[in-house]
This record gives sequence, C-alpha cells and structure tokens, in this order.
Amino acid sequence: MEALKKIAGVTAAQYVKDGMIVGLGTGSTAYYFVEEIGRRIKEEGLNVIGVTTSSVTTAQAESLGIPLKSVDDIDTIDVTVDGADEVDSEFNGIKGGGGALLMEKIVATPTKDYIWVVDESKMVDTLGAFKLPVEVVQYGAERLFRDFLAKGYNPSFREKDGVRFITDMKNFIIDLDLGKIDNPVAFGNELKAMTGVVEHGLFNGMVNKVIVAGKDGVRILEA
Ligand code: 5RP
Repeated sequence: MEALKKIAGVTAAQYVKDGMIVGLGTGSTAYYFVEEIGRRIKEEGLNVIGVTTSSVTTAQAESLGIPLKSVDDIDTIDVTVDGADEVDSEFNGIKGGGGALLMEKIVATPTKDYIWVVDESKMVDTLGAFKLPVEVVQYGAERLFRDFLAKGYNPSFREKDGVRFITDMKNFIIDLDLGKIDNPVAFGNELKAMTGVVEHGLFNGMVNKVIVAGKDGVRILEA
C-alpha cells in the first residue's frame, strides 16, 4: 500500500513545472508528492512556491526547503496535489480523514489544475462508507451534534489521544456515519446551510485529474 501511495505521489509531481505556484496537500499519499517536490528543488534546481493545506504539511515543506506563501498572498495556484478518502466516478469525493478539509478546500478553490492522488481502494461506486467529516465552530457544536443525531446522520466528535480533536483553524470535527450518500451535491448544500458548519468534506466536481495507483499500474482519470 505504501508503495502505491508513493507511485501516485511521485507521478503527480510530473505536472509541476518551473515557476509554478503549487498547492501541497495533506495526508500519507500527498506526503510523497511533497517529498518529490523537495527532492527536485534540491537535486534539479526546480523553482516553485508552495501553498500548504495544513500545519503538518507546512512542517514537512519547511524541512525540505520548499519556499512557501500564504494562500492570501497569491491570486491563483497552478496545480494542487492532494489525497482523498473516497472518489466516485462523477469526480465527487470525500476528504478530511486527516482533519485538514477546510484548509484543503481553501487551497483547492483558486487552483487551475486540481489533482488527487489515491490508491485504488479509494475508488467507490457511491460515497459514504467513509465517515464524512464536518468542520464546525466550537461554540454551539453540541447543538449541531444533536441536530445531526436527530436527522439520523450517526455523528461522532473526532477525538485524538482521548480528547476532542481541534483543527488547524481551531474548530471541531463531527464525523457523520452515513453508509451512503445518494446525492453528494444536495447533501453538501444542506450541510453548508447549517449555522455553525464551517465546511464539509464533500469535494464535489472540484478535481480535474485523479491519479490512481493499483497493483496493475497507474491510471490517470481526467474529468
Ligand atoms: C486530510 C485529507 C487526506 O488527503 C485524505 O484523508 C487522504 O489521506 P491519505 O492519503 O493518508 O489516505 O483529506 O484532511
């Protein structure tokens, strides 16, 4: 599995050219992409500026000597490479398994070429077996939790080391155990309309390419 993740991450790096502004994703697959960008800077003199999607990726990029800018200081991002937790055939997906969905969506939004790197286990017919992360502000989070419970969305507060997980943006995550999501677009809109929800992990139709590494090789799916 680790080898497949590395193949996907390194394959995605071929879309990065000199002079680009590059969104650096979060997670164990995007890790290999970031590592490859760091290698090319060091060994090939690649000249790029990175925009990170989490504090974890910022630390990795800094350790590799990748020059960084804030998303606030750029107009567009040429290419962003990130992981995903589930992807369907309509190029909808679930992200946020690593808790970085808000920053990831903020970086994805001004991106011209938005690429996901996944192993083949992430490709699904219907989204929803993976718990859908919803980032919520701390104030009123219990009320939102009860609303999700009443709607039958099987919520749970994300925890880390026995305490409630707090995102880089200082919010909580409530994971919804939905089983399946029949209409990701409608469901995303419903969540977005709930006061206190900052962002949800449905990334509907945002991605341009999905690089899928499997035991039979790499497939590049284009939207
Ligand atoms: C983090 C994410 C990750 O990109 C997603 O969870 C996939 O991670 P991995 O490549 O480790 O399976 O959305 O918030």
